Amino acid sequence: MLRCRSGRMLRIDDDHLIVFDDFRNVELDEKADLIFADPPFGIEFKANMATYNRSPDALSYVEVPSREYPGFIRELVGWCYRSLKDDGSMWLVSGWNNLRHVLDAVEDAGFVQLNHVIWKYQFGVFTRRRFVTSHYHLLLLVKDADRYTFNKPEHYAEDVWIIKRPYQHGEATAGNELPDELVERCIYASSNERDLVLDPVLGSGTTMRVCMRMGRRCLGIEINPALEKRIRRKLGLYDAVDENMGLHGVNR
Ligand SMILES: C[S@@+](CC[C@H](N)C(=O)[O-])C[C@H]1O[C@@H](n2cnc3c(N)ncnc32)[C@H](O)[C@@H]1O
Repeated sequence: MLRCRSGRMLRIDDDHLIVFDDFRNVELDEKADLIFADPPFGIEFKANMATYNRSPDALSYVEVPSREYPGFIRELVGWCYRSLKDDGSMWLVSGWNNLRHVLDAVEDAGFVQLNHVIWKYQFGVFTRRRFVTSHYHLLLLVKDADRYTFNKPEHYAEDVWIIKRPYQHGEATAGNELPDELVERCIYASSNERDLVLDPVLGSGTTMRVCMRMGRRCLGIEINPALEKRIRRKLGLYDAVDENMGLHGVNR
């Protein structure tokens, strides 16, 4: 069971569910084995990210103004800590701009940092008077340094990953979709089949797609209901059930 305020859900099957709501309005009865979170970065608004104070559409996501970012990330990390099993893990994606707030929130919540992975991608935005940013940070966090899942992907597994962003020719995408390969590597390392993976800031549904392929159960939460169209296309869903449950819960 879970409870949410909006009551708007997309049930794919018994093991895969998407809730359209603010994660702060969602309460779970089952804690997650793994949380994968790629939150807004709280940088100044550009192009299709400029959705604050206007209705978000299917090609955009809800940003957080930079002055509100420290409070936002603290709420997200705290909510994730409470929603995670004691032997669970969390992957948290961050740019460098607000990394200090992210690291403070992680430490204060009680997480143990196991790794600080750098994801190197190609083609950052061109700059004239500084180096082009072409990496993100992926923090691997656990609650208990002695009890967590770790499936080593290769014998000598390093913490710098070079993974390309795929081009989606002619396809309208939501801002900042992650490559499946990146999410897959995190989910493989930190969960097993049938585990429950939670993504509280789902975006276009990358985490859900990877979980469906890898035999993980998944619950995704996304504040922007207009993204449903993009999610359905990405997951190849044409007959999943839209549920409007009012203030009641849904059985999982
Ligand atoms: C960086 S995007 C996630 C992209 C995703 N990893 C993908 O591959 O498509 C962050 C998402 O968080 C959503 N979001 C922002 N604030 C939220 C909140 N309070 N609750 C739930 N989702 C939120 C945004 O609308 C956006 O879709």
